[in-house]
Amino acid sequence: MATVRLLEIGDWALYRSVRLASLAESPAAFWSSLAREEAFAPSVWQDRLAARNTFLAETADGPAGLAAVVPDEGAAAELVGMWVAPSARGRGIGDLLVRAALEWTADRGFAELRLWVFEGNRHAERLYARHGFARTGRAERGRPGKDEMQFEMARTVTAR
Ligand SMILES: CC(C)(COP(=O)(O)OP(=O)(O)OC[C@H]1O[C@@H](n2cnc3c(N)ncnc32)[C@H](O)[C@@H]1OP(=O)(O)O)[C@@H](O)C(=O)NCCC(=O)NCCS
Repeated sequence: MATVRLLEIGDWALYRSVRLASLAESPAAFWSSLAREEAFAPSVWQDRLAARNTFLAETADGPAGLAAVVPDEGAAAELVGMWVAPSARGRGIGDLLVRAALEWTADRGFAELRLWVFEGNRHAERLYARHGFARTGRAERGRPGKDEMQFEMARTVTAR
């Protein structure tokens, strides 16, 4: 049984450890890198938590996943940093995190939730599609120096 909670600024060290674990475990899934974020000072992690509404999934075994929502342009918000620990995958924790993000987005009056996925990340695309996200047609090259594309998915959000 997993639970999801919104992290507070005081949780920055926990957030740092889970985020760094995600970058170490799934380097191809994220724009950023372990080397870059390992060097962040505590204030950077605190500022991120202040700017991004960050959800932590936990099981009896400890932290199991992470996802964050940031306001984007206009009435849209963006879902970033989605990760479930390998030992906790395939148990619906990704679903819990997406649901928490959608509820937060709806409650704050955003009209749309967007996200970016690297081409070939089948599990992530299926997870988002299950929650009503569809490709928007926008695609961009991935990280500098890498031969990869990322594509945008989005869905409308209505107030609960
Ligand atoms: C994408 C991700 C968040 C999905 O999380 P999840 O909680 O495992 O999601 P689900 O429970 O829906 O399972 C996802 C898939 O993994 C499969 N799965 C089952 N057991 C699994 C296991 N032990 N390990 C890996 N995948 C497993 C599920 O059957 C499901 O398959 P499907 O895509 O064919 O439906 C997770 O795989 C992950 O963190 N991946 C690495 C980081 C990443 O890609 N983030 C997304 C960036 S956009």
